[in-house]
Amino acid sequence: MENVLSGIRPTGNLHLGNYFGAVTSFVRMQNDYNCYFFIADWHSLTTHPKPEDIQASTATILAEYLACGLDPAKSTIYNQSDVPEVLELYLYLNMNTYLGELERVTTFKEKARKQPDNVNAGLLTYPTLMASDILIHRALKVPVGKDQEQNMEMARKCARRFNNIYGVEFFPEPQSFHFAKDAVKIPGLDGSGKMGKSEGNCIYLKDDAKTIQKKVMKAVTDTGPTEPNSVKPDVIQNLFTFLEIVSTPETLQYFEEKWNDCSIRYGDLKKQLAQDIITYTEPIREKIDMYSSDKELLRRVAEEGAAKARESARKTLSEVRKIIGFKVY
Ligand code: TRP
Repeated sequence: MENVLSGIRPTGNLHLGNYFGAVTSFVRMQNDYNCYFFIADWHSLTTHPKPEDIQASTATILAEYLACGLDPAKSTIYNQSDVPEVLELYLYLNMNTYLGELERVTTFKEKARKQPDNVNAGLLTYPTLMASDILIHRALKVPVGKDQEQNMEMARKCARRFNNIYGVEFFPEPQSFHFAKDAVKIPGLDGSGKMGKSEGNCIYLKDDAKTIQKKVMKAVTDTGPTEPNSVKPDVIQNLFTFLEIVSTPETLQYFEEKWNDCSIRYGDLKKQLAQDIITYTEPIREKIDMYSSDKELLRRVAEEGAAKARESARKTLSEVRKIIGFKVY
């Protein structure tokens, strides 16, 4: 089975956009690949977070991913900082990566603009740390968003260059795995195209029934259709897209008919939609609560994941050391 690996930035709670996008894809992939999923806690240090923030956000993200169906029995789920082998490979990769190419990475330039007082070396070498995350397991496929393409190109460059320098065929070139095209796109309910953290329009998996209701009832609509069977404007289509995902076909059909004969009442639709979102997410929410309150279980999952990840990492590293000319341990 091919190795698939993905790094998860520990940035707060999962929303429905994440859930129906990346997370559902991860959960499905577990059956077809040998999956590694890790929380990129070292990467998060580029912005100097407080220790308590790191602790809270890594625990939250682990609990939420487990609640969504990432399964430690199928996949290797771990914290990056529990696998020190990654750092040794990072050192080797850094020796073969040039200042100029790191400075040209767009995400580096953007970050440098955003945090001019903290343009640290870790920020610059972010792509080599990411390459090390991937190459340490010799992963072939990496599910990432479009914004990671340049980092992926750097990872391939690191693999190629290592192979060239030492005249070996050791590291395979990892390919991006764009699940985005078949993943369901979740619209924002504020009239914007997409649900996203930066858009500030998210319904979170952990949101309780009241919060979900409030958010859905505030959804942007229009003054209603005036012609039978008219094309829906985007803000209305967004609501229907949601119904398609969380409601029964009968409910969807009912509101389609109401739309088509111009008797639709958006208040009714929203009430139904809120209820269906609540029903859909309820079992996930219960599991999030269960995992979040069981620190012992989270610790065990992270420990077992780390042990599996280190076993794979050690194998790679002992080959790498041999290739470079160091003693094998
Ligand atoms: N850079 C990725 C992001 O911003 C997170 C990440 C770190 C990652 N290491 C990785 C993703 C390795 C895939 C593979 O989302």
